[in-house]
Amino acid sequence: MTHGEIREKFLKFFEDRGHKIVPSSSLLPADPSVLFTTAGMQQFKPYFLGDADPVKDFGGRRTVSIQKSMRTSDIDEVGDESHLTFFEMLGHFSFGDYFKKETIEWTYEFLTDVLKISKDRLSATVFAGDDKIPFDEESYNAWSRFLPADRIRKGPREDNVWGPPGPEGPCGAANEVYVDDMEVATLVFMEYNCDKDQNLTPLPQKGVDVGWGLERIVMITQGKGNIFETDLFEPIMKLLLDSPNKWLGRIIADHARAVVFLIADGVTPSNKERGYVLRRLLRRMIIQLSSYTDDFLAPISKVVDLYGSYYTFDKQMIIDVVELEADKFQKTLTQGRKELERLESIDATKAFMLYESYGLPFEVIKDLGREKAKGLTREAFDEEFKKHQEKSRAGAEKKFGGHGLLMDTGELKAGNEEELKKATRLHTATHLLHAALRKVLDPPAGGEVQQAGSDITAERLRFDFTFPRKMTPEEIKQVEDMVNEAVQKDYKVTKEEMSYEDAVKSGAMAFFKLKYPNRVNVYTIGPESFDPELKTEGPVEGHNPSSSNFSGPPFSRELCGGPHVSHTGEIGHITITKEEAVSAGVRRIRAVVE
Ligand code: SER
Repeated sequence: MTHGEIREKFLKFFEDRGHKIVPSSSLLPADPSVLFTTAGMQQFKPYFLGDADPVKDFGGRRTVSIQKSMRTSDIDEVGDESHLTFFEMLGHFSFGDYFKKETIEWTYEFLTDVLKISKDRLSATVFAGDDKIPFDEESYNAWSRFLPADRIRKGPREDNVWGPPGPEGPCGAANEVYVDDMEVATLVFMEYNCDKDQNLTPLPQKGVDVGWGLERIVMITQGKGNIFETDLFEPIMKLLLDSPNKWLGRIIADHARAVVFLIADGVTPSNKERGYVLRRLLRRMIIQLSSYTDDFLAPISKVVDLYGSYYTFDKQMIIDVVELEADKFQKTLTQGRKELERLESIDATKAFMLYESYGLPFEVIKDLGREKAKGLTREAFDEEFKKHQEKSRAGAEKKFGGHGLLMDTGELKAGNEEELKKATRLHTATHLLHAALRKVLDPPAGGEVQQAGSDITAERLRFDFTFPRKMTPEEIKQVEDMVNEAVQKDYKVTKEEMSYEDAVKSGAMAFFKLKYPNRVNVYTIGPESFDPELKTEGPVEGHNPSSSNFSGPPFSRELCGGPHVSHTGEIGHITITKEEAVSAGVRRIRAVVE
């Protein structure tokens, strides 16, 4: 059976049993508390919670889907027999309709009748029970009709209660289904809403959320020893025969798939959040490929072709994004490699230096450094990030004496009070400029303009940002006008300290770092910007409920160490003096204030 046939059979099996086929949702969920779509249930969350009506939207209470999914939690396992970052999940769902008995019956029937897997290879686990959720006797009994007692195990909360992705959502007791020793499906019986503090409250209706890992079930059905030998991977693996070892070939294949699907859903490489995940995967793929071939586009192209009958791709757009990032990376890679070779051993401090100066991600340092980087752990590397963060915060404190600078935040430098005043005006102008660029420019790959660097003196500001082409004179004028309008309106600039999570939820722009300090400063620039005096009644639409002091969409909101002026009117007139390229995909604007 090909993977195409398995897909069809799954959809048909459940369609015949009254399920409506629903297309995969994007890898980027609408829910801002989660980075990626990690399971088929995500797009159906409101139906489980009773917040949306499945009958109205799907004509019934049963749906079936094949969902694009992405899990970065398994990234260190990629290369073994069965772990991936990007994968597809076959799922079927009931919103207040059938429950355990039918679910278990169909699972068994699909495995044995449709996929022809011998029942002797099957086993299942059910929840043993604890003080919050009782033993799942109903599932146990349902499985007993098909499997002998020694093939039904009672398992703990970690394995047999499934919680929602993100801080809260529907959850319940779960069964795991195994073929030989491999887990192929999870059957979740949604009965509770689980809140942030892990409190459970019963849902208005019970639900079923079943997810099968497509790659794994294809592997088992096709009788292969690992997922990379299935027809989902074979065409890609053929291109990678020359890779230095089996493990690296698998990593390249996994990353190429993830890269294609992430870009197709609108992610562009950057230094934060989703963009940063993409950058890491892409750079690692490029570096592994470049050790033996110049053609790093071949696997990308193959993934697009392989999945073209199931998903729609803009192949050229994907290739453009990959090439742009590859160009950018190549510029620092040679030097980074040299530096890496020069080092005798690589600890976390050195690894962080390689990351900062040459853009080498943690995984790449581990791969390239091999023996030298043996002692380097992800935890130590993350710790180094944190230290660095603290250092740059400390650097933002006023420095007297020392090297004669009154202030040096890394971004802003001033030698005396007079210079500091001017640089502060330019700093606030930089925030306005960043916000205006985002409002005016629309990058073709669907991502957004990202800050790539900023350097401020008393004379001028210099702002680098990601954008694939030269700005037109009209665009420059539009940005300049928008910024000066914000100055004329004399918006209030407010600072608020909050948790990093709240800051991101409130829409603050931030550079992605692995670890942020618990409390961060957010600078908001009008209109109706943050007002500490204002106490609104409950959440305001479009805003994070915990930041109800925000009374309207601001012009700009950024995580920042300061300093800033208190009203935009203090800035003066802003003139953009130059717009130029820094490197492929990165532009630089210089501006002055009068
Ligand atoms: N939500 C469960 C999982 O992700 C089943 O779909 O495994």
